[in-house]
Amino acid sequence: MLWPDGSSLYPDEIIAGGHSSVLILHSSDTVLKVPHKTLVKGRDGSWMPDTVQDELNEAAYLNEFVAYIRLIGCRGIAEFRGSIADSLALKYYPAGSLENRLVSSECSMPPLGLRLRWMSDAVHSINSCHEARILLYDIALRNFVITEDLTLLAIDFEQASIFPEDTNLETAEDHLGVTVRVDMFHLGCVLFSLATWKKCHIECRSEEHWPLLESLPCVTGIPWGYLIWSCWVKRFRNCGELLRYCSKPRARRRRKMRERKQGIE
Ligand SMILES: Nc1ncnc2c1ncn2[C@@H]1O[C@H](COP(=O)(O)OP(=O)(O)O)[C@@H](O)[C@H]1O
Ligand SMILES: [Mg+2]
Repeated sequence: MLWPDGSSLYPDEIIAGGHSSVLILHSSDTVLKVPHKTLVKGRDGSWMPDTVQDELNEAAYLNEFVAYIRLIGCRGIAEFRGSIADSLALKYYPAGSLENRLVSSECSMPPLGLRLRWMSDAVHSINSCHEARILLYDIALRNFVITEDLTLLAIDFEQASIFPEDTNLETAEDHLGVTVRVDMFHLGCVLFSLATWKKCHIECRSEEHWPLLESLPCVTGIPWGYLIWSCWVKRFRNCGELLRYCSKPRARRRRKMRERKQGIE
């Protein structure tokens, strides 16, 4: 793999490689998300740019760029450092993603207090996106990074749908059928993963492709079980409602009592 100027890229500079881009360590505290430039072999055996794929990668990069601009200053979003050489520049978080942490054999399960804090962080991140009139769809453990002070921040807005700022997001739907409820379903999966420390990802492409409730994992006895289930059965209209529910003293007490009955400390 080469930099655009033709110089070699060293393996330890590559943080991750995705379908449309590669994550590269640019300096000690900045990473670049560089859209792939792909070559295809022509009929005569020569290599030429794959213009169709390159345009798709470029469009994904531009979409993510616009999303990061919209999200500047919002709570729970990775620090965006603009564009360098047609790539996205982000602050580097050496602890990596939540998914890396969960699958790493070197790390044990974080204490419940920290996982509960991460659950709240994840809700705040998605709430920020929705308040900025952005639907994400790709809400997953791999798309949260962990900061030095152990806060979760959202990354990866390639697939985000960015609506005009006066949109009523509760009634909005993107061209693939993604809605606030679909995002909250995937958020529920992230919360379930944090509660149980087991990766949970269940596909829910649109409201028409909603998973059968009987196929969902049991939430009885797990932290935030009621809230996770509420995300899965569309009980909350938005993340704001979920956050308000968590912060209301009576609701919090009721949840604690319910969870204590289920055997959770
Ligand atoms: N700022 C960052 N600091 C540290 N690791 C990062 C950062 N951004 C992304 N990563 C790592 O790179 C992976 C891919 O990044 P992401 O933006 O999700 O690209 P993709 O669109 O290919 O999924 C993430 O899952 C995470 O492990
Ligand atoms: Mg990603």
